[in-house]
Amino acid sequence: MSVPSVAKTDRRNFLKYIGTAAAGVAVGVAADRYSWIPSSPAILTQTTRTERVTDTITETTTKTPSCSPSLRAAAEARGLLIGSAADENSLRYAPFGTTLAREFNFLTPEWEMKWIFITQRGYEAADTLVKFASNHQMKVKGHTLIWARGFDPRLEGTRLPDYVNENTSVADFRRAIQEHIHTLVGRYRGKVYAWDVVNEAVDDIEGLRKSLFLDKLGEGFIAEAFQLAHEADPDALLIYNDYGAEGMGGKSDRVYTLVKKLVADNVPIHGVGLQMHINATGYPTAEHVAANVRRLAALGLKVNISEMDVRIRDVPGDTQQKLEVQRQVYRDIVSACVKVKGFMAATFWGFTDAHSWVDSFYGPDDPLLLDEYYKPKPAYWGVMEALLSG
Ligand code: XIL
Repeated sequence: MSVPSVAKTDRRNFLKYIGTAAAGVAVGVAADRYSWIPSSPAILTQTTRTERVTDTITETTTKTPSCSPSLRAAAEARGLLIGSAADENSLRYAPFGTTLAREFNFLTPEWEMKWIFITQRGYEAADTLVKFASNHQMKVKGHTLIWARGFDPRLEGTRLPDYVNENTSVADFRRAIQEHIHTLVGRYRGKVYAWDVVNEAVDDIEGLRKSLFLDKLGEGFIAEAFQLAHEADPDALLIYNDYGAEGMGGKSDRVYTLVKKLVADNVPIHGVGLQMHINATGYPTAEHVAANVRRLAALGLKVNISEMDVRIRDVPGDTQQKLEVQRQVYRDIVSACVKVKGFMAATFWGFTDAHSWVDSFYGPDDPLLLDEYYKPKPAYWGVMEALLSG
């Protein structure tokens, strides 16, 4: 990797912090996000991470600093949901689950409820996440019934199941969507609090994004999806979710116009999610985000930040400076949102830099609230400050 990620270059402080022996164990495990259950020799010999992974990892890393009060406590004190994406695989690593339940009261399965995942792997992983949430008094946001973008090889989950393709008749396509939504939403009726019903349907330049959904069913596919979800669980909060529509501008105007029309047409839509995958070198101002949240809330919709992360790789300066900028971005945006009536939840797309989609999609970075060893970063305290702000 040409540009080393921030926390990953700053091992020395951490070693001092937790003690060399303990860090040795943690580094070995944190190195490989997907092999908590040892061991991945390729990764262990790749860098300085030569330490052995041992069974003591769980015991050792659960002694990493605890945070009091937690983000969860701070959010609950003001009646907000505070969330994180989580994948079922990471739950096998005890510190991941412990931290998730301590800091958050809202859980979004990272991809276990996406159509292709369910088709290929069934419901077991999603069931595990839903059960985990219920065991820890967390609410669940289902994500996502319709991901209305074309296949992107960088994004697992954008592929559609083989049985829906260009050659599928409109009637069969409609039937497949109906069965998918009815089955998935029906299975978790009463257990999933809110659903991202349609994700990323609005185009970056104009109109709706080109997709099989648009090709086959026309613009009405969005309203149809909401209707189907409502039939399967009349009590679930149904959300339209998108990226690049956080502040003010062309795309957020298009999202606003879309949901306004859905509301006017009595489509059962109850909320809007602003993904908030942003880069600290250029992002919508807190004022614009607040104005956008206000106009969406004025439609009677609940608004949530649904997938926040803040990239800092290209921020000038040393590690400390990057982390400080990141803290301010998190603080300013979350604090602007929580002040608006109708804002219901802030969800981050993961919480530890040990596991973020950003590394593979945008390149190595440290976009989340806790570092790869589960230690709160300045960003964590930025969000805390926002939650405690007046
Ligand atoms: C990403 C997940 O984080 C990855 O694990 C998966 O491979 C691809 O999808 N916007 C979304 C999320 O709505 O579903 C995406 O999640 C990130 C971008």
